[in-house]
Amino acid sequence: MSRRLRKAVFPVAGLGTRFLPATKAVPKEMLTIVDRPVIQLAVDEAREAGIEHFVFVTGRNKGVIEDHFDKQFELETTLRNRGKTKELDLLASDLPSAGQTSFTRQQEPLGLGHAVWCARELIGDEPFALLLPDMLIHATPGCLAQMIEVYNAHGGNVLAVEEVPHEEVHRYGVVDVGAPGSNGAQKVKGMVEKPKRQEAPSNLIISGRYILQPEIFGKLEIQKPGSGGEIQLTDAMLALLEEQDFHALKFRGKTYDCGDKVGFLAANVAYGLARKDLGPAFRKALQEILAANGENLL
Ligand code: UTP
Repeated sequence: MSRRLRKAVFPVAGLGTRFLPATKAVPKEMLTIVDRPVIQLAVDEAREAGIEHFVFVTGRNKGVIEDHFDKQFELETTLRNRGKTKELDLLASDLPSAGQTSFTRQQEPLGLGHAVWCARELIGDEPFALLLPDMLIHATPGCLAQMIEVYNAHGGNVLAVEEVPHEEVHRYGVVDVGAPGSNGAQKVKGMVEKPKRQEAPSNLIISGRYILQPEIFGKLEIQKPGSGGEIQLTDAMLALLEEQDFHALKFRGKTYDCGDKVGFLAANVAYGLARKDLGPAFRKALQEILAANGENLL
């Protein structure tokens, strides 16, 4: 039987250079999709999947992420005095319980693989989920919950994958897979980080969600820098693939790459339109903007 998944890692130590100047003093994970920070949406997905401990790998200038997952006594007292119970309930429901969060720092942004390795002491000898908050996945049930079904059936390691146009594969980790099994999962045969289009084994990319066994830390420990001079998680997973099974799941849902400006803007439009309280007014505002530009797309 597969060991129960209790912990999730959120690497949030990247520099967010694509969002400068916004990310000079504000971590990109705190940029909002409507009114929820990107990191909160990733934590929401993990909580929905039953995760009980949230490990954040942060860096310089990221202290505000720690504050976000803490109580804010002054604010809460003011809200209470003003009778704002709806807002108080919202803050309380978003907050993991005391002791459910841990923070460690990646002292230098040496790559995603290195960021994950920084969590080794906090994870210990147990499987864990890894969620890249940039990859926002709108899905019901959530993407990680879908992956846990595959994990419970097969054990080992599980990757969320999706198809992208062939001309975009060079931006991602790409997998080579076998035929789908009864639950839709496909055995992974190989993987490569940011391949040239002609060298990519498929157009199936790893979309920011992983379930990994703790043996990955031993591989990361000895991993040499790869693509872009960074320590790449995909390279360490390829080494682990020689010893353990990996399954890929084409999850049901829609991804927004919020590390990219267009993806981030699209997520705000999609989430804004989907909101019961804001959707109708937002749609009207968008229609007016489009009409003023001579377009009528909505
Ligand atoms: P990205 O490469 O998209 O993040 O890493 P970045 O470096 O912050 O972005 P740009 O390109 O400069 O705009 C994907 C994820 O891995 C984390 C990032 O925080 C993000 O969640 N990461 C990346 C780290 O935690 N440490 C690193 O050294 C690199």
